[in-house]
Amino acid sequence: MNHILNKLHEDHKNISKLLSFLEHQLYLLEKCENSDLSTTLDAIKYMKEYPDNVHHPLENIVFKYFLDHHEQAREEITELLHEHEGMPILTENLLRMLEGALADVPQKREELCSCLKKYISIQKEHMQQEEAYVYPILNSILDENDWEKIDNELAHMADPLFGKSLEKTYQGLLLQIIS
Ligand SMILES: [Fe+2]
Ligand SMILES: [Fe+2]
Repeated sequence: MNHILNKLHEDHKNISKLLSFLEHQLYLLEKCENSDLSTTLDAIKYMKEYPDNVHHPLENIVFKYFLDHHEQAREEITELLHEHEGMPILTENLLRMLEGALADVPQKREELCSCLKKYISIQKEHMQQEEAYVYPILNSILDENDWEKIDNELAHMADPLFGKSLEKTYQGLLLQIIS
């Protein structure tokens, strides 16, 4: 397996561990037993910091390259890309709910449970589709030459804030940082 795909696969193993932890916390919450909300919040922070900000953008590059050069699994890959777009919103929503729960903001336990349950199931189904269907297709169709091109694209991934070309959105932010 190519090293990029292998890296993505290893990420999935780690994310699965995290989702198992979240499942256990959900179980405790549903049973009204003592759940560890603070560590649950840390787990969701991680989902924002790594899967949402690093893992999915890396997949986006691989998936988009594949769509540009091959016809297979077009519908499924397009759906995964679409899901990547929505995931940070789900993460943010859950983060806010957990922060509220920790700050004793009154809210229904059922709402938090249902939000967490939905979040876990979306993440699991998404990864399952990648692992069981899309990654094997990428692995069998993309050759060394393709992976080299993807590698090059990754190398040129621009840092929008600290990189050579500063994105307009971040001009104000950069000024604040350096002043
Ligand atoms: Fe993904
Ligand atoms: Fe993934």
